[in-house]
Amino acid sequence: MLMSVVDNHYEGLSETYDDIWTDYPWSEYVPWMNHQIARRLGIREQERVMDVGAGTGMFIKEVVGHVSPAMPMVCVDPSQSMLSRIKPDARIIKVPGDFDGVCDGSAALPYDHFDAIVSKEAIHHVLNMQDIVEGLGALLSPGGRFLVVTLQPYLDYPVFPSAFRRFAEKQPEPAYIARCMKNAGLHVTVQYDQFPVSCSREHYLRLMRNRWLSVLSSFGDDELKAGIQELEHNHPEDRFVFVERRAFILGCR
Ligand SMILES: C[S@@+](CC[C@H](N)C(=O)[O-])C[C@H]1O[C@@H](n2cnc3c(N)ncnc32)[C@H](O)[C@@H]1O
Repeated sequence: MLMSVVDNHYEGLSETYDDIWTDYPWSEYVPWMNHQIARRLGIREQERVMDVGAGTGMFIKEVVGHVSPAMPMVCVDPSQSMLSRIKPDARIIKVPGDFDGVCDGSAALPYDHFDAIVSKEAIHHVLNMQDIVEGLGALLSPGGRFLVVTLQPYLDYPVFPSAFRRFAEKQPEPAYIARCMKNAGLHVTVQYDQFPVSCSREHYLRLMRNRWLSVLSSFGDDELKAGIQELEHNHPEDRFVFVERRAFILGCR
């Protein structure tokens, strides 16, 4: 598989990705988000579950608690490096692959159909949203749920203006994803939830330097340095206060 800028971003980020979430306040955000996902998917015994763009599996730990080794959850990701950070667990099968591979059948999935599919902050990477959403919808069994968790185009995070604009250009509107689900014949609900965050200036600037958002990988080292200087200039505060706000788009078959 050819490595794209995005793949390279996650190969590079994987080493620090989980560290992003271990310090307060994200140490509290992680269980909050795990619960948001688990309660919306409502996994029942023996259901077949898949996460596409699973990354390091940081946000599916509560879901995995409802999964049995007899019917392991499938975690798909194109980045071997991200997948390798998921600890070995009899309730998880790791599958190298991407949205296209899942939809065209080339990814080595252990099941033909799924009762629940989740994708958190990964679907914005696809080029053909309608086709991918239809492909995933077609993998749902009757009563199956497909949950997309995503940021909105206009970030609530403090970022420098060019990163804010570039992110917005690439990020699909949750309403658009919801329309794609409707077109795919799913019954759709959209909800927003948010978690308040307050973190030290040093902590936040470290995340920025580590390019925690994939859009930051599209900036060269000098551009990023200049951007962070601009951010520091515009944000003299000691603590950065904002919200981790996400759209939860749930499509049911
Ligand atoms: C921001 S991370 C999110 C990971 C995980 N879902 C989470 O919330 O922690 C985005 C993930 O999407 C994966 N990804 C990028 N392009 C993808 C594609 N075309 N198909 C599936 N996954 C993709 C990346 O490798 C990365 O692990």
